[in-house]
Amino acid sequence: MTQGINRIEQQELKNRVVSAEEAATWIEDGMTLGLSGFTRAGDAKALPQALVKRSQTEKFKVDIFTGASLGSDLDKMMAEAGIIRKRLPFQADNVMRKRINQGEFDFVDQHLSHTAEMLRNHTMEQIDVAVVEAIKITEDGMIIPTTSVGNSLSFVESASEVIVEINTAQPEALEGVHDLFSLAKQGERQPIPLTKTGDRIGTRGIPVDPDKIKGIILTNQADSPSPIVPPDDETKQMASHLIRFLESEVEQGRLTKELAPLQSGIGSVANAVFHGLLESDFENLKVYSEVLQDAVFDLIDAGKVNMASCCSITLSEDKMNQVFNDIDQYKDQLILRTQEISNHPEIIRRLGLISINTALEMDIYGNVNSTHVLGRNMMNGIGGSGDFARNARLSIFVTKSIAKNGDISSVVPMVSHVDHTEHDVDILVTEQGYADLRGLAPRQRVEKIIQNCAHPMYRETLMNYFEEAKERGGQTPHMLEKALSWHTQFEREGTMRPLAEVKS
Ligand code: COA
Repeated sequence: MTQGINRIEQQELKNRVVSAEEAATWIEDGMTLGLSGFTRAGDAKALPQALVKRSQTEKFKVDIFTGASLGSDLDKMMAEAGIIRKRLPFQADNVMRKRINQGEFDFVDQHLSHTAEMLRNHTMEQIDVAVVEAIKITEDGMIIPTTSVGNSLSFVESASEVIVEINTAQPEALEGVHDLFSLAKQGERQPIPLTKTGDRIGTRGIPVDPDKIKGIILTNQADSPSPIVPPDDETKQMASHLIRFLESEVEQGRLTKELAPLQSGIGSVANAVFHGLLESDFENLKVYSEVLQDAVFDLIDAGKVNMASCCSITLSEDKMNQVFNDIDQYKDQLILRTQEISNHPEIIRRLGLISINTALEMDIYGNVNSTHVLGRNMMNGIGGSGDFARNARLSIFVTKSIAKNGDISSVVPMVSHVDHTEHDVDILVTEQGYADLRGLAPRQRVEKIIQNCAHPMYRETLMNYFEEAKERGGQTPHMLEKALSWHTQFEREGTMRPLAEVKS
């Protein structure tokens, strides 16, 4: 297959084209691979697929480092093939989740801005082979990534060898969208020169020493589209509470109608919130986020957003066709960066982001669990939520007030795992309303959280817990023997609801 050979602009590299099967034989047992890919976008596809095939006749295990979750079912296929020894920093696949929770391999759940720093500091294994999807390799020695940048720059810098997958399913017109900035070591570093969402501070591709490129695979496979999650009544309510809160910030002069650069996680609530902005009075908005979903492009098309920066573009099938076939019309308003820069605490604090992320559960004092079900089972990982929550101007967490038909309350006396401490959480939002926790002591937060965010069927029991706990005193009153009793009851009885109520 030679389709795409003209996308290798350096003459001496053209004879390094190999099949994915041949490249897969270069991978040795115990190696660490750095794969491009972030939330379904821009993943190296052919080599992992060939590795899975090779595992049918040969036993080996490798460490898989990526940007975040992979598309094309790669996480599922690699987990099923049993070829993973360690995986980091994030995943979102059902099968992989199950295998992680069965303890089949190690999963390192890491802040997404930290991986690059740890590779640079040599505090983790270095990358043996980086596998990066690209639209082309330029004459001046740049790998131009496709629809995500993720950790690819760090992987290429750290790796002993690089394999490039040139994917002709992605338009060459994507060139010019990326901005790759490499940080110096800690202690030898200048401030990152990014002061506005739209600043370009780096190169248009990943600079690479051609001698490091061991092979080039020519591919033609689109990214997996993201499922469309249309807003339901509850996510619409959450979006409207959140927009009401932002409007009140404008009324009080703390924000203008341009708000501040917005960050949002992926999923149904994020989509609903961004759709809600379409009908709002806010204008000239900026997005400084990890992932851009369909709604951001709708906002650009409607003239509401005039600049969007991210490290990955994850779209539904229709939107993918529309955006990537006409990428030139977005180029002035779109920048794809490394995840180290999209999620960098220095930038998040400097720009003063409004950050919206999702919780699994929150407690009556404002601690948030985004990763562990019943304190034990990994859901997906912390992703970028910690990078943003600790450093944002406004750290907002959203969730539905109940899960599993009401048998789980998302507001509990004590969260069963803490990802975002009470110190990193400003606003909590459920379909019931929002609680503004800024400047409040733990005891002051309780009633706001329970009355504004908890489901009515759990409010009284939550208040009873607090009243009883208060009798023991403390800055943050708790009864340790009862604090996790809601979770243990759920494990035992299948519900957090008061048993007397359930049985009556
Ligand atoms: N206890 C147990 N299970 C719960 C729960 C709780 N308190 N709250 C929700 N769930 C279950 C839901 O029932 C659902 O289960 P199902 O898949 O069997 O239907 C599942 O968790 C997902 O819940 P859902 O309401 O659909 O939320 P979501 O798809 O928006 O995902 C997170 C929520 C928290 C898992 C997800 O946002 C996440 O992984 N966040 C962490 C990473 C992150 O924030 N990244 C973005 C940074 S840019």
